[in-house]
Amino acid sequence: MSAKVVTVFNQKGGCGKTMVSMQLAASFALRGLRTLLIDMDKQGTSTIWAGQGSVDTPFPATVISLAPLRDKLIGEVAKHAENYDVVVIDCPPAIESSIPWAALNISDLALIPVIPLMDNVWASREAKELARRAREENPELQTYCIPSMSRRGNVFKACTEILAEDKDIPLLDTGLQQRNAYGESQMYGLSVHGLSGSSAATKEVEELAKVVLSKLGINTAKKPAKAKPVKQKEAA
Ligand SMILES: Nc1ncnc2c1ncn2[C@@H]1O[C@H](COP(=O)(O)OP(=O)(O)OP(=O)(O)O)[C@@H](O)[C@H]1O
Ligand SMILES: [Mg+2]
Repeated sequence: MSAKVVTVFNQKGGCGKTMVSMQLAASFALRGLRTLLIDMDKQGTSTIWAGQGSVDTPFPATVISLAPLRDKLIGEVAKHAENYDVVVIDCPPAIESSIPWAALNISDLALIPVIPLMDNVWASREAKELARRAREENPELQTYCIPSMSRRGNVFKACTEILAEDKDIPLLDTGLQQRNAYGESQMYGLSVHGLSGSSAATKEVEELAKVVLSKLGINTAKKPAKAKPVKQKEAA
């Protein structure tokens, strides 16, 4: 397989899996990497999101839904891997499902988005346990937690500190803060790169993308291309 595979997973619903998957996939594509996002969630959020892009301003990466082929994920990724540099797998919110397990077994790197709140911290333990078991089958798998939707405040700070204590599955310093630009990018079928006035969000997505690419050993000397900004006031 030529493509590097990145899985974004966590059994916790609504923790930012799709947001992280879509923003990262867009960043990789805008850097000139052939990028495929595989939506494995039957809710189809990534697929619907990418479908909102216009002909003039399409979503930067290719997005397909393979959720109906749940048991065939490994074979499907193998079929696509020759044609892409990076494959990002957006998982459904369930650890019991066979999908995250299959995805982790063929991944180079896995990201667990965690909102720095206690319920998310508790739930992340189960996600980490799955990654540890997957590492027995796939010893090359790198796994990291990333802060998702974080804000300032004592609880966020304390929870971030708890997550940072785990040295086995470390917390990356870079993550996504809670920002309006993320919701807005869905509305236009874009990533934050394609919106005007979203420089803070774009900057943090780029920082995360850089860290992930360096951990994957992918060198993109090239800066991400500027996506054509949409006229936001034309929203429906
Ligand atoms: N950094 C952020 N700032 C603001 N809103 C965000 C951010 N990340 C995600 N959201 C919003 O939070 C909600 C949940 O995010 P998302 O859909 O990415 O989570 P998920 O883990 O994929 O959920 P599910 O488990 O349902 O698949 C969505 O409405 C999304 O638009
Ligand atoms: Mg999702």
